[in-house]
This record gives sequence, structure tokens and C-alpha cells, in this order.
Amino acid sequence: MSQIVLGVGGGVAAYKSALLLRALTESGHDVRVVPTVSALRFVGAATFEALSGNPVSTEVWDDVPEVAHVRIGQTADLVLVNPATADLLARAAAGRADDLLTATLLTAHCPVVFVPAMHTEMWQHPATQDNVATLRRRGAVVLPPAVGRLTGPDSGPGRLPEPADVAALAELVLSAGAGALTPDLDGRRVVISAGGTREPLDPVRFLGNRSSGLQGWALARVAAARGAEVVLVAANVERPAPFGVRVVPVETAEELRLAMHSESSGRETARPADVVVMAAAVADFRPTTVAGSKLKKGGATEPSSLELVRNPDVLVELVGARPAGQLVVGFAAETGDAEGDVLTHARAKLARKGVDLLVVNDVSAGRVFGRSENEVTVLAADGTATAVPAGRKDAVAAAIWDVVADRVVPQA
Ligand code: CTP
Repeated sequence: MSQIVLGVGGGVAAYKSALLLRALTESGHDVRVVPTVSALRFVGAATFEALSGNPVSTEVWDDVPEVAHVRIGQTADLVLVNPATADLLARAAAGRADDLLTATLLTAHCPVVFVPAMHTEMWQHPATQDNVATLRRRGAVVLPPAVGRLTGPDSGPGRLPEPADVAALAELVLSAGAGALTPDLDGRRVVISAGGTREPLDPVRFLGNRSSGLQGWALARVAAARGAEVVLVAANVERPAPFGVRVVPVETAEELRLAMHSESSGRETARPADVVVMAAAVADFRPTTVAGSKLKKGGATEPSSLELVRNPDVLVELVGARPAGQLVVGFAAETGDAEGDVLTHARAKLARKGVDLLVVNDVSAGRVFGRSENEVTVLAADGTATAVPAGRKDAVAAAIWDVVADRVVPQA
């Protein structure tokens, strides 16, 4: 259990902070809500008190003997400001201490995460951008706002990410520190495949696999939080899109192949991807023929065996077609055997496929699939190996992006 300060700024999106609070307390954290005076014009103190089980104050004068403005910040493991308005970012960047929340920000030794929400004009204004740069320079995380519907009829960058995404990123910062959300993918285009393909046998049956898509989702969520423009080519994953991520749903290996080629080459966007990650479990084989109507027992169409044909290796094709400077990352699920251990097989696969990086999972004894925890080694074509200790898939994703960010070609 961690001590979290949930700062709430005075914007309409403050209503989402109640759901975020609920998600944090359900994960077992002790949350102290510190709203601004204007936040309480959108959501009442009673809501925050009931959901957190803690008192709510806005001013340093509210409980003077407690010296709350010093103690709350000093004892926190994380300060999460959601939503962070333009005014709150400005006051934080200026080092003001004119209410309990800004005073808390000045006394906190722990990671601080701002989740901005405001109208697009306010977000893009040089004053706000300077304040964001100042806060980031001092070590705070300022998440890029989601793009989408804002209050009223307009839409654009400035929307508050959904509470589930913010809660997941808060867990990541608690376990891995603020460095896990360094904005080092700012301005990068990243294309990720995730999930498992399905190869139809007839209109109702398919050959599939156990991939849950969780690691691909985590990679997308963390890349977007680190500033990347992310496309997620998702094979059969029923999950809400992580904030700021464009999902392209596919079903078969062939659909995934076409989508990956189109998105990574930039045919659709006129800009090739900087990084392509093949985290999907792509079927190596598909049925040679797909029956047009359902295969029935006992009838003339009852199959006695299944004939399969090899699918193209999408990863190898992407390596062959990659534009200059594009980094290609593969995944490998390996088990050791008489011919070699997991890393020996993985090194051979890295060379065979020609990728820049290979993320290696040891899947001996049913590990990995569908679990929220993972443990990988990232092998690079230059011979280096980075062991990523067991952790939640978001933390593993952050460690993978650390390796990638060190290797992407510097931006012009
Ligand atoms: N992959 C792909 N296209 C395929 C199969 C796999 O792009 N038809 C990609 C996966 O997304 C993953 C990587 O290749 O990034 C590793 O796949 P894996 O199935 O482990 O490797 P294989 O070449 O099939 O080797 P093995 O002989 O171990 O099955």
C-alpha cells in the first residue's frame, strides 16, 4: 500500500478524478485528496471524503496543528495531479504556495505526475508549453494530453486521459519511478502489433493462440505516455484503446501483415514509423483451404485431417522493407532444449530475422500468457543483452522503451 496525494485542479474534467480515486483505493492505496478551491465547484468535498476515507482540505489554514502543507507532501509516495489545469501548471512552475496543493508540491520528495486537461489553445500556448518544460526539467512527469472531444463541441489535444490509464501509469511510477515516463519518445511514430491472429477453418471455427495482448497494450500505453504517436495493430484483443493510441483491429495473419506494412511504411500518413514492434503472436500456419460453409459431422464435408500452409514471416518482411533509420523490434517466445538454452536460441533468431532488438520471453512451464507479470531479456544486434527483472507488464514495457530510446536515430 502506498500513500498517494491526489491533487485535483479546477476543470470540468475534475469529475473523472472521482473514478481515478476509486481505482487507486481499490488497488489498496491510501489516498489523500487535495483539491483546489475551484475544483470543489465541480466535485464536492463529500465525494472525495467518502471515496478516500480521508479528510479533504484546500487551504493551509484548514488544520493548522497538523501542519498539513508540510506533512502531506513529505509522507507521500506519489503526488498525482489530475486534472492539471493551465493555471495549476503555471502556479506549480512558478513555485507558488498559495493553497494546500501547491504547498504540497513544494514539500514532496516523491515522484510528481501532472495529468493535464484544458482547451487545445491553452495547452499549445507558449506560456503553458514553457511551464511544462520547466516542470519536466525539474523531474516531474507531465503526461501529454489525449486528443479527442473536449468540453463543448470542439475537439483536439487537451482531453484528460481515462481514469484506468492514469491509474495504470500511477502504478508504473510507484514501482519503477518517474524515469519510467521520461518523454524521450516525443515526436516519434511507433507502430506496435499485439494479440494473437486467428486463421479461419470455416465460417465459425479458427486456429488461434493464447496471446492476451497485455504486453502489446502496455508497450502502447507507455510509449504514448512518453510522447510517441502510437498505432496499435491489434489482433483479436477486446480491450479499450490506451489513451492517445490509434487501434487498427485485424483478425488474420494476412490482415495483420497488410496493416503492419501500410502503417510502418507511412503509406497512410506520409511519414514512416521510427520504431516498429512485432509483439503479436502471428500464426505460422493457416489451413490450406477455408470452407465456405460450416464443416459438419458425418456429412461429405467432415474433415479427416487438416492441411496447413506456411504464412509469410511479417517480421522478416518488415526488416527487408524498412526505410532508413527505422528500428525494428521482434519478440521471441523460447524454451531451452537439448540444443541450447533460451538465450542461445534467441541469439540465433535475432540473426536469422535481421532485427535490431529481440525481446526474449522464457515460456518454459506455461509462463507469460495472460499474466500481468513478465520477465524478459532484450538482445540487441550489437551483441548487448539487457535483463529486465520480473515485473508488471507496464514496467517491462518501460524497460524495453529505455533500450529502444537509446538507439533511435536522433531527430533532425
Ligand atoms: N512473426 C511474424 N510473422 C510470423 C511469425 C512470427 O512476424 N508469421 C514475428 C512475431 O511477431 C515475433 C517474432 O516473429 O516478433 C518471433 O516469432 P516466433 O514465432 O517466436 O519465431 P519463429 O520464426 O516462428 O521461430 P520458431 O521456429 O521458434 O517458431
